[in-house]
Amino acid sequence: MSVKNICCIGAGYVGGPTCTVIADKCSDIKVTVVDINQRRIDEWNSDTLPIFEPGLEEIVKRNRGKNLFFSTDVTQAVLEADLIFISVNTPTKTFGMGKGRAPDLKYIESAARKIADTAKSAKIIVEKSTVPVKAAESISKILKHNSKCTGFQVLSNPEFLAEGTAIRDLLNPDRVLIGGDTSKEGQAAIRALSEVYERWVPKERVLTTNTWSSELSKLTANAFLAQRISSINAISAVCEATGADVSEVSYAIGKDSRIGDKFLRASIGFGGSCFQKDVLNLVYLCEALNLPEVAEYWHQVILMNNFQRRRFVNKIIKRLFGTITGKKITIYGFAFKKDTGDTRESSSIYITKYLLEEEARIVIYDPKVSEDQIRSDLSDCESFHSPSDFDRYVTICKDPYEAAKDSHALVICTEWDEFVTLDYERIYGLMEKPAFIFDGRLILKHEALRKIGFQVDVVGKDFS
Ligand code: NAD
Ligand code: UDX
Repeated sequence: MSVKNICCIGAGYVGGPTCTVIADKCSDIKVTVVDINQRRIDEWNSDTLPIFEPGLEEIVKRNRGKNLFFSTDVTQAVLEADLIFISVNTPTKTFGMGKGRAPDLKYIESAARKIADTAKSAKIIVEKSTVPVKAAESISKILKHNSKCTGFQVLSNPEFLAEGTAIRDLLNPDRVLIGGDTSKEGQAAIRALSEVYERWVPKERVLTTNTWSSELSKLTANAFLAQRISSINAISAVCEATGADVSEVSYAIGKDSRIGDKFLRASIGFGGSCFQKDVLNLVYLCEALNLPEVAEYWHQVILMNNFQRRRFVNKIIKRLFGTITGKKITIYGFAFKKDTGDTRESSSIYITKYLLEEEARIVIYDPKVSEDQIRSDLSDCESFHSPSDFDRYVTICKDPYEAAKDSHALVICTEWDEFVTLDYERIYGLMEKPAFIFDGRLILKHEALRKIGFQVDVVGKDFS
């Protein structure tokens, strides 16, 4: 079977870019990305896309209206498609059983039920969202018991793109992973999806496994990546207490080809919509499988991440003579990493809230995150007692120099390239003295800053 019509349910950070690249590389395949969120679809059809990703806008504009469509007509897109990606969100549950750990699978289930109610012919269903092991089995059951058609094949095809480099990752992936049933029909479905990717991905990079291995590989990959960050962050605490420098330690261990040099940047803790959610998903899975020791092992990755954020703020308070009440503190960067406007689980949110607990006055500058987003992210701040408290304690600036004016401390929370090349002599002149800089991303030239007169503090190195 050759795929001619693809529907993607979920027009988010994964569905949008992934299907845009598929449409670009497969001009003979009609690709329709659908979502229940009308505003999101309107934005995909406008000049201002709902997400910022380097290179995305150009490819969307090149293909939109030709073989790439964004729509809220889920029914029509499902009817027409021979292959359907389910790319909906799977956030951590905030209530009920598994609260704070288990992924909420209600969006996956509603997508599966919609397909079952709508489809008039058998289709290949592809689980693109990150899900617990055996989720494909639930999708199969929903289809089997609710659809008038038979012969659906459910594949697992997890996405490994990282935000900020999504287009690069999609165009040149380390691997594409496809899991499916070992039956003849399952293997044929795997083949059909592989052929889509093989238009631009070398065949040897398209890996095929059984469904459960594929689902578990996604959770495992994110758990390993997050674990590396927590490991180096744990070592950063040892560095600060001993005179070792975490950048030198990272460099030295990364030279060992068995360890490798990637994902060893000490930081204020990982953010983003995936790492915490997926590690917790794994923890919950292990608990459900009655493997408490394994669950505890992975949970430590999250606890270390929380500790790193708290430790960083404690250091700020300590350096600022034990009190930040009423002091102006400028946060550079609110996105969870550079080159994205996404703030989901950003460490900046946690750090800002901790600083607000001490009644500091906060000024925030980020080149891509909107004021509305920052307001929404801080709206549940426990130290706000009335809605007007936001404006009393928080100011959002569109200019980094204006943000630094009269500030006691600058805190680098996101590694935006532009922060490296700012005029720090000028910034020093604008700030209260002593002027503190806390580099939570290890991106600045620390000796040069010290020469200007700054009191410099960084993650993983003690300058005092
Ligand atoms: P997102 O929240 O940006 O997008 C999901 C979209 O699905 C939303 O627009 C929502 O309205 C829509 N949706 C939910 N239920 C729907 C339904 N029944 N019908 C139609 N639309 C529906 O989420 P995302 O960041 O794109 O993540 C999607 C999945 O991919 C998650 O499981 C995530 O873990 C995984 N993932 C994300 C990334 C990433 O970098 N963001 C990377 C790899 C994997
Ligand atoms: C991650 C995975 O990398 C990707 O494969 C998966 O599909 C989705 O989750 P993402 O969260 O978009 O991607 O970005 P990533 O580059 O992994 O960064 C996650 C967080 O870790 C960011 O806050 C980043 O700043 C932080 N990080 C990353 C570090 O603190 N140190 C590092 O060395 C690397």
